[in-house]
Formats: sequence, structure tokens, C-alpha cells
Amino acid sequence: MKGPRRSYSSTAERFRVFWSDKETNLLQGDNDDGFRRARANEMRELFSFQSVDKVLEIGCGDGTLFSYLWGPRTDYKGIDFSPQFIEKFRAKYPAAKLECKEGASYQDGNLYDLIFLDGVLQHFDRGMLEQHLRNACFMMGDGGCLIWGSIPRRCLRMQYDLGRFGATKPSLVCLAKSWLARLLGRDAMGYWYEPAEIETLARKYGLRTKIVASSMFPYRFHAVLSKTAKPVGATVPIHGFSAEIKLKAGNGQSIPAAAWKSRLR
Ligand SMILES: C[S@@+](CC[C@H](N)C(=O)[O-])C[C@H]1O[C@@H](n2cnc3c(N)ncnc32)[C@H](O)[C@@H]1O
Repeated sequence: MKGPRRSYSSTAERFRVFWSDKETNLLQGDNDDGFRRARANEMRELFSFQSVDKVLEIGCGDGTLFSYLWGPRTDYKGIDFSPQFIEKFRAKYPAAKLECKEGASYQDGNLYDLIFLDGVLQHFDRGMLEQHLRNACFMMGDGGCLIWGSIPRRCLRMQYDLGRFGATKPSLVCLAKSWLARLLGRDAMGYWYEPAEIETLARKYGLRTKIVASSMFPYRFHAVLSKTAKPVGATVPIHGFSAEIKLKAGNGQSIPAAAWKSRLR
């Protein structure tokens, strides 16, 4: 395997500029405690098979999920290339280890039990994905695990553009708006992938992959990558998103995943 690469790509620069004036992670509904708790619960299932004492989060944003996912004893490091998010994160959690760095090129020479990215892969083009994977392989050691959460699934992109997963009725106006945003470089969605591509890429680096459908975002999926097979729990088959799946809301009530859908973009 070649050594780690630390150069910065033009895609990274484009998205750095995109995020430079944003104040939130752009996930509608994410200012709701129940929504965040449900999102964190789904993520936690992905690594429930192993203890995660040492965690690296790439694209940590302003730490939205920090208190939901990690305990006081977790040795956590978060990195993000947006200084304003790192500042907000630090203001909320002064003790957290944070760095303002680009994610695909990040390699710090440490070993982590878990390298975690949620809602970030859409900002990585294929070159960045490989660069990041190469770097992650060094930092995972033999027993660590890499989670790529909430990857937009390419075969659902047209439906997404039409507005099929939004709060309003699907329409050609939605489609035109999505395409215009993409054309003007104002599109937050960026790169869409298929599970098979992720599996092929992971295999190239000797990693095993478990693909899990996202129940919070029906047009996304998660990938759990590791050097040895891991028993990922509570999975939803990738082809079988079910509106009946129940997620625990903040008040302990179960809320049908479909109810969240109307709040998402
Ligand atoms: C949709 S937000 C998700 C934030 C957080 N992971 C969460 O789930 O709330 C995407 C985040 O990834 C960061 N990001 C995107 N591309 C990045 C890159 N190449 N390097 C570092 N951070 C990146 C953005 O600044 C932003 O904070």
C-alpha cells in the first residue's frame, strides 16, 4: 500500500468555500432534540459491536451529535475544515479535542477504534474517497472500524431532485431548482454513490463492508468498513426501506420514520 497523502483537492476547496458562510449543518429538523437523538441512535447501532474508547470524527461540524454519541471517557478528536463550526463546537464543549483540518487528507499517525463520518462523504469526490480510505487504513490499525454514515445513493438522485423526499409535493419546479443549484455550485449534496462502488473500493484496500439503509434519510445509506467482519446489529436491508421502522424520539416515544421524512431535505 502507498503511504498517506496529505494534499488538498479542488473539490475540497469548493466545499470549503460552500461551507464557509453556513451556520448549521443544513439538516432540517436537526435543531430538534428528538430528531438528533434518533439520528444518534441509528448511528450508534452501526458500531454497537465494539467498544469505542478512541474516536476520530471527520467533518464533525459544530458537534451536533457529540453529546448524544460519546461518553465522558471517550478519547474523542473532531476535525472539520470550517473554522466557524470548530469555534461553535469549542464554545459548547471546551474540553473536546478539535482541529480545523481538511478531512480526506487527514492523517495524524494515531490509531483509533472508530473513525466516524456522518453526512460528509457527499463532499468527497472519488479521488478524495481513496485518499481518505488510504489514510483511514493507517489510523484504523487491525481492529478499528470506519463508518461512513448517510451516503446519498445515486440511483435515488433523480427522485431527490424532483422533491420526492422533501416536505412538498414532487414537481418539475423542484427538479429545476435542484439542477440550477448544482449548476451554480450551491448544491450541498455533491457526490452520490452506489453501495456496490463502496464495496469495490473497500475491497481494494482489503476491507470488508456492511451496507445498511438509512431510515432517517431514505435516499441515503451507511457503510461500516473494517479489516475483519463485524456483526452490525439492527440493520435495515438496503433495498427494503420501510416506513414502519420506529425510531425512539427524545421523549421516549416511538415515531414512524416516515414522520421524520416530511421534515428532511
Ligand atoms: C452535512 S454537515 C454534517 C456535520 C456532522 N457530521 C453532523 O452529522 O451533524 C457536513 C460537515 O462536513 C464538513 N466537511 C465537508 N467536507 C469536508 C472536508 N473535505 N474536510 C473537512 N470537513 C469537511 C463541513 O464543514 C460540515 O461541517
